[in-house]
Amino acid sequence: MNNFNNKVAVITGAGGGIGREVALQLAKEGCHLALGDISQQGLDETAKLLEPYGVKVSCHIVDVTDRKRMEALPEEVIEVHGAVNLLVNNAGITLQSSFSDLSIEHWELVIGINLWGVIYGTKAFLPYLKEQGKKGLDNAHIINMSSLAGFIGMPNQSSYCATKSAVRAISETLWAELHMDNIGVTSVHPGAIKTNILNAHLDKAGNPANAAAINRKVDKFAMDTDKAVAKMLNAVRKNKQRVVIGTDSHLVEKFKRLLPSAIHKPFAKMFAKEQLARTS
Ligand SMILES: NC(=O)c1ccc[n+]([C@@H]2O[C@H](COP(=O)([O-])OP(=O)(O)OC[C@H]3O[C@@H](n4cnc5c(N)ncnc54)[C@H](O)[C@@H]3O)[C@@H](O)[C@H]2O)c1
Repeated sequence: MNNFNNKVAVITGAGGGIGREVALQLAKEGCHLALGDISQQGLDETAKLLEPYGVKVSCHIVDVTDRKRMEALPEEVIEVHGAVNLLVNNAGITLQSSFSDLSIEHWELVIGINLWGVIYGTKAFLPYLKEQGKKGLDNAHIINMSSLAGFIGMPNQSSYCATKSAVRAISETLWAELHMDNIGVTSVHPGAIKTNILNAHLDKAGNPANAAAINRKVDKFAMDTDKAVAKMLNAVRKNKQRVVIGTDSHLVEKFKRLLPSAIHKPFAKMFAKEQLARTS
């Protein structure tokens, strides 16, 4: 999609972080917006920030894990905007817990938001995107938020890595399958970005003190959200199948290809050290 002016974008998780920044940057380019989030307060804050740009904005309370709610969303959006050109499957969470500490309920929560949310969103909006694709190139696009974690399995992140790898795989499949429908698909792989994601579910971390310490370290090298989103939207303009964002993500992607097994050895040492400190 080479330009966003006068298009309509649906963004899940638009009540904060990356989703809010995507809304802001798209609004600056004249894109109309349907904002979805579980948080009314988050949506209100985003909508307020968008006021100066004069684009049409609608807010929709949605829990992306709720299939029926997601199935009902397109009609609401079409009623306000008349069309959908861009779907940003962005809502996502992470729980920092070892596999042993993660309960089945925790797995269900992460899979619900990070994976089912993407599947429900794509299923619901695909017919509308196909309609736009019939008008020719650059009218329909899907952005799926994967992660650096979509390239590799890491300790304390099994549910996050599993869902983000799945999102990468789905995106690759969709890219090929939707090519003939003139629908672009971009899989986004950021490393650490300055948002609230690491702290949002800290209460569910297996070892909250260790998770908080890691978050403080990560925050020191995390990329600013505006810079990350600018890179992401640039990739969409160029109709890239995927975009890797941040030095950390580039390094992980490269080393995983070069040293597919050996790369996991330092992770094993780090995890053992953490477990030892926890029990001593
Ligand atoms: N921040 C990073 O370092 C980073 C790195 C790689 C990938 N990502 C991905 O980017 C996406 C956005 O993350 P972020 O960093 O902006 O997170 P964030 O926590 O700052 O924002 C997430 C937003 O999603 C909303 N949300 C949470 N659960 C929801 C649900 N069930 N239904 C609807 N909305 C829900 C939250 O209310 C919030 O507004 C996620 O998919 C995340 O995995 C983030």
